[in-house]
Amino acid sequence: MKIVIIGAGRIAWHLGKRLKSKGLPVAQVISRTAGHAESLAEVLQAQWTDLPAEIIPDADWIILAVKDDAIVEVAEAFAPHVREALVTHTSGGTAGAVLAKYFSRYGVFYPLQSFSREHTPVWSKIPFCVDAAHPEDVLQLKKTAKTIGNLVYRVNDEQRALLHVAAVFANNFANRCFAIAEKILDEKDLPFELLHPLMEETLAKALQDSPERMQTGPAMRGDTDTVKRHLHLLQKHPEWQNIYRILSDDINPELR
Ligand SMILES: NC(=O)c1ccc[n+]([C@@H]2O[C@H](COP(=O)([O-])OP(=O)(O)OC[C@H]3O[C@@H](n4cnc5c(N)ncnc54)[C@H](OP(=O)(O)O)[C@@H]3O)[C@@H](O)[C@H]2O)c1
Repeated sequence: MKIVIIGAGRIAWHLGKRLKSKGLPVAQVISRTAGHAESLAEVLQAQWTDLPAEIIPDADWIILAVKDDAIVEVAEAFAPHVREALVTHTSGGTAGAVLAKYFSRYGVFYPLQSFSREHTPVWSKIPFCVDAAHPEDVLQLKKTAKTIGNLVYRVNDEQRALLHVAAVFANNFANRCFAIAEKILDEKDLPFELLHPLMEETLAKALQDSPERMQTGPAMRGDTDTVKRHLHLLQKHPEWQNIYRILSDDINPELR
């Protein structure tokens, strides 16, 4: 299978290295910034270019690993140079159908994890959400995902759109709450480590049972005086006060 990766960011680096280590070497890296394409290609021992017209003509699988807002623009630029290849993007928040206008074989290969440059992903724990317009391509993507990971799901555009919303709550918003907690402690010269055991317990319980059933705290108990005191203590930070109020109301609508 001749694989081409378009993009040379976080996903391209991690996915490219993982594919190579599992015997699925990337033949070519293409990216808007020539230096980025070259750096990744060097690591993957692949060809590179920054020009859509120079894509290898016999590619089997093209992975669009560019930022969400550039997917359509990049698909449009490559469409005239792609014949038979299966083209997938890696985005959780973008429909696979956006590629339908440009390619006959298209799909999505979305690894549901937060990738950063510094951390080596634990591939066996990353769910791959795949989908494609043709059943044989779905099978191919599932097989590839199984080779480089372990958990594979077929998820359609409608499901993935909401899965992505859920992921924002579970990861981005939860992390923002951790960050706010850190700042609140910092203002009183308290170390964030104080909250580590509580954070660990929260996650362990949420994984063990339904987080809905595991909910505790003043809002859940209906301790309105405590909730009012907390809101008063957050006076200097009206935006955190708002978040506190919205989340408390959501936990216990009777507080409204
Ligand atoms: N990072 C994650 O945690 C994660 C997880 C799952 C899925 N994804 C998805 O994977 C895709 C790539 O994300 P990433 O985290 O790898 O992004 P990234 O590290 O920010 O890299 C973005 C890539 O997009 C290219 N790019 C940006 N604007 C472009 C444009 N206008 N035209 C052409 N290329 C452009 C950049 O090219 P140059 O470097 O050459 O300028 C770069 O290679 C996204 O769809 C994202 O939703 C990311």
